[in-house]
Amino acid sequence: MANYRAGILGTGHSYPEGILTNADLERIVETSDEWITTRTGIKQRRKASPGEYTSLFAVRAARQAIERARLDPSDLDLLLCATVTPDQILPSTGCLIQAELGANKAAAMDVVAACSGFLYGVTLANTMIQTGQSRYALVVGAEILTQYVDYTDRQTCVLFGDGAGAAVLGRVEPERGILATRIRSDGRYEEQLFSPGGGTRRPPSSETLAAGDHFFKMRGNELFKVAVRSMAEVSREVLEEASLRPEDIDLFIPHQANQRITDAVAAKLDVDISRVYSNIAMHGNTSSASIPIALDECVEAGRVKEGNVVLMASFGGGVTWGGVLVKW
Ligand code: ACO
Repeated sequence: MANYRAGILGTGHSYPEGILTNADLERIVETSDEWITTRTGIKQRRKASPGEYTSLFAVRAARQAIERARLDPSDLDLLLCATVTPDQILPSTGCLIQAELGANKAAAMDVVAACSGFLYGVTLANTMIQTGQSRYALVVGAEILTQYVDYTDRQTCVLFGDGAGAAVLGRVEPERGILATRIRSDGRYEEQLFSPGGGTRRPPSSETLAAGDHFFKMRGNELFKVAVRSMAEVSREVLEEASLRPEDIDLFIPHQANQRITDAVAAKLDVDISRVYSNIAMHGNTSSASIPIALDECVEAGRVKEGNVVLMASFGGGVTWGGVLVKW
C-alpha cells in the first residue's frame, strides 16, 4: 500500500456581502450588543440575501483554493463538500459544485458532520492521498445557516452566520504536511443541537413548517461544556500522535463557536492566546465553513509561515469533534 504524505496546497474563502450586526438583532429579538459581545465575542455575522445559496459561495472559495494551488479543476479526483445546509436534498452539493467548477474527473459527495465537517473532510482526503487513491482533493466547508435560524429564538439567532472556505490537498514532501488527524462523534448527544423536521422522521408538511421544526434547536449550556472538553481532548490526542507538545504549536485555529469556548480550550491546552486565531467577532459561527475561512484569513495575513505547526480543532452538532495537525 502506498504511503504518501498529504498537505494543504491552496486555500480560499468567500461570504455574502450582507451583514447582520448586533444592533440589527436588537431590533429583532430581546437582546443587546453588550450581552452578545460578553457572552460570545460576536459583533456581526454575514447573511445571505434571498436568491443566494450554499454552492454559490462554495464555488467561489473553491476556485480561489484551486488557483492558489496552481491547479485546474480538472486535476481534482476527489471533491468533498462539508455542509448541513445543502442547496437541495438531491443531488449532493458536492456534485453541484463539481459541475459548476468543471471538475469532471472528481468523485464528489457531501460530508454531514456539522461544525466538524471540514476536519472530517480533511481527514478523509488525507487518507485517500496517503493511500494513493487520490492525487488532488478539494475539501470545502460551506453554509447558509441564517436560513435555518429561528429569529424568535434569541439563544441561537445571535450565533450563526454564512460563508464558505476551501482547501486543496495533494502530495507533499515527507518533512511537512498533515502530521495527525482524529475524528470522533457521539450520537447520544443528538438533542444538544438539532433540526427535528424536514427529514423522513418528520417529513416536511405545513404542520412542521408552522411549528418551526426545520430550525436549529440548541441546548447551549450543555453543549458549551462538552465542546470545551472534547476540543481540548482531541487536540492532545493529535499532538501526542505527532510526538509534539502544546508549546510546539505556532498557530491554533479552533472552530469559531464562541470566544469563551476558544479561551477555555486554549487555557486547558496551555496555549497562549497570542497563538490562537479568532475571527468570531466578524463572522459568528459558520459551522463547517468556520475553520477553512479562518485558515485562509491566516494565510492571506501571513500568519502561517513555512515550517509552522498549525493545530485545528472543531466541535459541532451530532455531536462530532475532530483535530488536524499540520506542518505548513
Ligand atoms: N440575549 C440576551 N439574553 C440571552 C440571550 C440573548 N441573545 N440568549 C440567552 N439569554 C439569556 C437566557 O435566557 C438566560 O436568562 P435567564 O438567566 O433569565 O434564564 C441567560 O441569558 C443566560 O443564558 P445561558 O444559556 O446560561 O447563557 P450562556 O452563557 O450559556 O450563553 C450561549 C449561551 C452563547 C449559547 C453559550 O451557551 C454557547 O455558546 N454554547 C455553545 C454553542 C456551540 O458551541 N455550538 C457549537 C456547535 S454549532 C454547530 O454545530 C452548527
